[in-house]
Amino acid sequence: MLNCYVFDAYGTLFDVHSAVKRHEDMVGPNAARVSEIWRAKQLEYTWTRSGMGRYLDFWQLTEQALDFALAAVPDTNKDAKKDLLDAYRSLDCYPEVPEVLRQLKDRSARTAILSNGSPEMLDTAVKSAGISDLLDEVFSVHPLMLFKTSPETYRMITDYWKIERDRVSFQSSNRWDIAGAVSFGFHGVWINRTGQPDEYPDLAPDRILEDLSFLTASN
Ligand code: LAC
Repeated sequence: MLNCYVFDAYGTLFDVHSAVKRHEDMVGPNAARVSEIWRAKQLEYTWTRSGMGRYLDFWQLTEQALDFALAAVPDTNKDAKKDLLDAYRSLDCYPEVPEVLRQLKDRSARTAILSNGSPEMLDTAVKSAGISDLLDEVFSVHPLMLFKTSPETYRMITDYWKIERDRVSFQSSNRWDIAGAVSFGFHGVWINRTGQPDEYPDLAPDRILEDLSFLTASN
């Protein structure tokens, strides 16, 4: 039976753009662009560093990506850096998240996060979103010093729970993360919040949902 639900954290449970939204007046007229570049660079750094075997933890990469975004976008107030980093520690979770996790727990499902985030970041984020009691485990890639989509990262789940890969439903709003999870052998549920076109055609998700509420609604 498929009763192990594993979630990506940033962008899937937590709204990565909520940090800039909280401080958009301080950041300047191109705040949304800063947020897009911040996220894109943060992810790029994980892939380049994993490929080179030169790990730095996700918090360091988040700070370096913000430095780049603030420098790259014109008319941006660089003094916003500290407030933006503070906001990133306690991002808003998407509104449907607590109820979806609660419904899964009511069905005796196992729930977990598997994230590139460092253990400290994830601990703070989960506590500030008030969802600690709804998650059985929070897996950070940190002990491996690798980032997703390395198969070793997804293997943390099956090794820890001692289950077969096809027992796991993996939810992510990052299409590249779904490709990694499907390649490993998980069922992939792509949370396509922003209506992006599909990609990675040989590594298709099992399901595509607009937000997480559909996960429990149609099961
Ligand atoms: C994570 C990032 C990649 O939580 O969204 O793993």
